[in-house]
Amino acid sequence: MAGGIRIKALSKRYGQGETAVQALRQVDLQVAAGEVVGLIGPSGSGKSTLLKCLGAVIEPSSGRMVLGDDCIYDNGWRVRDLRALRRDRIGFVFQAPYLIPFLDVCDNVALPAMLAGTANAVARRRAGELLEALDVQHRARALPAQLSGGEQQRVAIARGLINQPPVILADEPTAPLDSERALAVIAILNNMAQQFETAVIVVTHDEKIIPTFRRLYQIRDGQTRETAGEGRPLG
Ligand SMILES: Nc1ncnc2c1ncn2[C@@H]1O[C@H](COP(=O)(O)OP(=O)(O)O)[C@@H](O)[C@H]1O
Ligand SMILES: [Mg+2]
Repeated sequence: MAGGIRIKALSKRYGQGETAVQALRQVDLQVAAGEVVGLIGPSGSGKSTLLKCLGAVIEPSSGRMVLGDDCIYDNGWRVRDLRALRRDRIGFVFQAPYLIPFLDVCDNVALPAMLAGTANAVARRRAGELLEALDVQHRARALPAQLSGGEQQRVAIARGLINQPPVILADEPTAPLDSERALAVIAILNNMAQQFETAVIVVTHDEKIIPTFRRLYQIRDGQTRETAGEGRPLG
């Protein structure tokens, strides 16, 4: 499989001894290039932990992760430069937007591309296109503090997409958005997935968007189960 992401028997334990928490237990999951899957489960079930492992933000305890044709983790990291891995191959969209307060919206979105070596003008042009697709282009020159929560979230989504990474990990990306904007975000993620062969994982318990997934993973006490979704058409 070129592209996509696969994990096999992934486990994660926080801490040691009596206070240890087994957050993930032998999780299997795969998302093909061009596919958008949902990840749902109650609070504390391990959703964020799974995304952080997939995004090389925290180290699993055991198991295997393959990104495209590269094994990145096999009971230990198999990649030397995790920072470059995160920057170039993973797009993150977090619950909280974490925008940089002193950069305007356009530069917040353009920054990951600039850091990856794209010329500033090209990065800003691409940022403008994404802001337009997410319907916040009129805020391009504003500072994050001047935006509503929903606008900040859409800006953060644009930033996560700018390097067209092969994998996008989104943790509750539509939580603060109204129904129409939430569905617009999912439509954009689907378009991105198809256009750029991106594998997208969306953690959510947003009832508005759950019916849009064709395939879902349910997680409970750190264990996943794959289920078919409704795959309701978008727009
Ligand atoms: N840094 C941490 N240290 C210790 N335990 C943690 C840490 N992060 C999460 N946990 C625990 O791991 C379990 C899964 O948490 P999490 O992945 O955040 O779940 P979810 O995102 O589904 O709410 C919970 O029991 C949580 O308390
Ligand atoms: Mg969480």
